[in-house]
Amino acid sequence: MKKHSILLKLLMCAGVALMGFSAQADEVKGSAAAGNGKVWLCTGCHSIPDYRADYPYVYRVPMLGGQNAGYIATALSEYKKGERKHPTMRSIATSLSDQDMADIGEYYAAQTASSPNNPLK
Ligand code: HEC
Repeated sequence: MKKHSILLKLLMCAGVALMGFSAQADEVKGSAAAGNGKVWLCTGCHSIPDYRADYPYVYRVPMLGGQNAGYIATALSEYKKGERKHPTMRSIATSLSDQDMADIGEYYAAQTASSPNNPLK
């Protein structure tokens, strides 16, 4: 009887470990094309290279175009979790799903100085 319950506990531990593993394995994959339709919220503040953002945003708001996709998605999830504190970015990130963050990351990573203006701006 005692042996049985130890075995059960071991199985449960293995199950938890496996769940953790599979959650990591199917990490969301972003799509720049999907991101294109999701950045209308962001372009007012974040200029990508050919956007001319108004003073004082040019100085205050970080440039997202050309940054690493993973970095952008991670930064957004840090705002969402409260690990980063900027209040506006926090409230915006709260409305984004992991998929949105991955898509937006890919979208901005794909921007270059010669990218056309986003028509949704
Ligand atoms: C109201 C203006 C505003 C809007 C709208 C806005 N942001 Fe921001 N964002 C900022 C400011 C200001 C910062 C710098 C905050 C800080 O210092 O933490 C920032 C920071 C960031 C960062 C961190 C950049 C870095 O280099 O660390 C990311 C990523 C980001 N924003 C993405 C987005 C995305 C994606 C959207 C749209 C869903 C968006 N932002 C909408 C103003 C804005």
